[in-house]
Amino acid sequence: MRSLAALLTVLMLALPFSALAQDPSPDRLGQTGDASSNAALQSILERQQQAGSTGEIPLGARDNAADIVGQLGAGTTDDQVYRAIRLGTDDVSTQVRSPAAGVLIQTGGMRWQQLRDGPIQTYGLSLLGGMVALLALFFVFRGRIKIRSGLSGQTIQRFASIERFGHWLLASSFIILGLTGLYVLLGRHQLIPLKGPEAYAQGAIAAKWIHNNVAWAFMLSLVMIFFMWVWHNIPSPRDWQWFRQGGGIIGNGHPHSKKFNAGQKVIFWPTLILGATISASGLSLLFPFELPMFAKTFSAIAATGIPGLLGFTLPTELAPHEEMQYANLWHTIVSFVLMAIIIAHIYIGSIGMQGAFAAMGSGKVDLNWAREHHDLWVEEQEEKAAKRGKTLDGGAVAPAE
Ligand code: HEM
Repeated sequence: MRSLAALLTVLMLALPFSALAQDPSPDRLGQTGDASSNAALQSILERQQQAGSTGEIPLGARDNAADIVGQLGAGTTDDQVYRAIRLGTDDVSTQVRSPAAGVLIQTGGMRWQQLRDGPIQTYGLSLLGGMVALLALFFVFRGRIKIRSGLSGQTIQRFASIERFGHWLLASSFIILGLTGLYVLLGRHQLIPLKGPEAYAQGAIAAKWIHNNVAWAFMLSLVMIFFMWVWHNIPSPRDWQWFRQGGGIIGNGHPHSKKFNAGQKVIFWPTLILGATISASGLSLLFPFELPMFAKTFSAIAATGIPGLLGFTLPTELAPHEEMQYANLWHTIVSFVLMAIIIAHIYIGSIGMQGAFAAMGSGKVDLNWAREHHDLWVEEQEEKAAKRGKTLDGGAVAPAE
């Protein structure tokens, strides 16, 4: 009963978040502290809606920009001039020297902002809330996964200090990046109405600074865990057996496993791949307009012919700001997915499984835990320890009496 109450509390905490995020309407925009900028934003949104298909220039559309630019001059209507400016032409003369200097108005920005303030927050927060609710349900029905044969009282060295350092650098930097990223993302609609613009702005300046600098620690730790653990995470046919037996988590099987079982490989590879793509898009955002990657990526994907076969097209030419907008959306979406995966990992590495935390805490785990989850690895360690004349937890073997 107490567990059910805990689950309901989690759901109640998660739901208002997603409901708040769902509504980037002009009413909500008006609740923020900066009334004049909100009024301007609201007016732009309304005019864009009224403009309908004739006023809308899709992301990446530069179709007849050259024609329009050619027509500029005597007899050109304001509408034509603005269309050309919105598409971003090289003919714009400005004192500003930057890769994006030629773009004076960028219509795609409104679409980007609507996506960022609407569906991205709604689905992202729902994904995190849903994962927490799912784990709470799992905890209610399955309970803590126990060591079936009980504690042996004997330990085995599981991770060396360099491995634990790499793991905790990755974990702490990821959590800090997640929290500061959410703080910046949720500013306009969630946090400014709560804290007020002044207090929020102080926090946002700090969050942005922390986010931009802690990113380096995250990238370094990704490289560390890649080199330390990639070898142990190569998929093997044994992994199917692990999945078929529910990993010993669902059911009562004892699937064989070396240092990392299939469930851990399912954490390792997304951490690495999603972490790398979050880092790449983050670098693109950290050095604005210097590292554009989406037009090139879309061109490479288009060249495979797959989008054509599936009946859609990708924009292969993007204005500098559009590159930034794609990088921002991608960075946010993929981060939400990795956060959801990591919430599940944190659960299983702490309250979800008896004996697991010690692996990253002291570095030594109970021998019975190790035999149940990583039996083949224990056998390897026993052979190595015997050759080196050491005990399983790294100590010297006591001389025979
Ligand atoms: C902060 C709470 C966290 C706890 C309590 C925790 C706990 C653990 C434990 C106990 C292990 C070793 C499991 C074993 O003995 O085999 C582990 C491994 C690992 N952790 Fe964490 N971790 C946390 C956060 C994170 C974060 C934030 C990331 C990534 C962004 C991460 C990525 C990994 C990876 C890739 C592994 C190796 C694969 C695996 O065991 O699943 N951890 N963690």
